[in-house]
Amino acid sequence: IEGSRSAGALADKRVVITAGPTREPIDPVRYITNHSSGKMGYALAAAARDAGAQVTLISGPVSIAPPPGVEVRNVITAEDMLRVASVAVDEGCDLFIASAAVADYRPQICAEDKIKKSSEEMLLSLVRNPDTLATIAGRVDAPFTVGFAAETTDVAKYATDKMQRKKLRMIVANDVSVPGLGFNSENNAVTVFWPDGQVSIGPDSKQQIADELIDLISTHI
Ligand code: CTP
Ligand code: CA
Repeated sequence: IEGSRSAGALADKRVVITAGPTREPIDPVRYITNHSSGKMGYALAAAARDAGAQVTLISGPVSIAPPPGVEVRNVITAEDMLRVASVAVDEGCDLFIASAAVADYRPQICAEDKIKKSSEEMLLSLVRNPDTLATIAGRVDAPFTVGFAAETTDVAKYATDKMQRKKLRMIVANDVSVPGLGFNSENNAVTVFWPDGQVSIGPDSKQQIADELIDLISTHI
């Protein structure tokens, strides 16, 4: 029966999930962002809730409704995301899942007033953002930490490199070059890697993939 398989698999576990894009302001009316609907992270939050977990969803700006029974903490920038995620993990966290599409760089300065157009070319200075996932996974009291990797080439290689570099227990890789899957789409297909195994899930709806991911994580946690 749909759903009953994973019921209680994460009973009494505290789960923190990041979702959606971040927005990095350039001036009062403009920002840099990534493609991300938030659907995968929101589906994971619902699946973890259905598995009995207490779920905190740290969400960048998205246009979808929050899943009932999940605590949502809204953030805008990558720096906000790190701050809010660190507080949530401090409060107690058994499982951390980073599905957010975080902007890797932010404008060095946010102009106080709207930038007016003038010359034909314009340069924007960017600085690196903090990595929420690597920071959480690197804590001495790190929870079981799962990351995502959106890649367009050499998916398995880049994903497993990321898992090792960020000290993750699992990484969920999706090939975002496949049309109709992933970004801003209803469906997705992923390959999950852990240190001594891998499995492909989908193509299927994001909710079905999220349910299967939560089942898989439950058996490894
Ligand atoms: N991530 C994060 N904070 C960042 C950047 C990424 O928490 N500042 C998380 C994402 O939520 C995802 C994982 O790290 O779970 C991998 O994100 P990705 O962009 O694929 O990897 P990067 O390490 O940023 O490497 P690159 O973009 O250069 O491939
Ligand atoms: Ca990145």
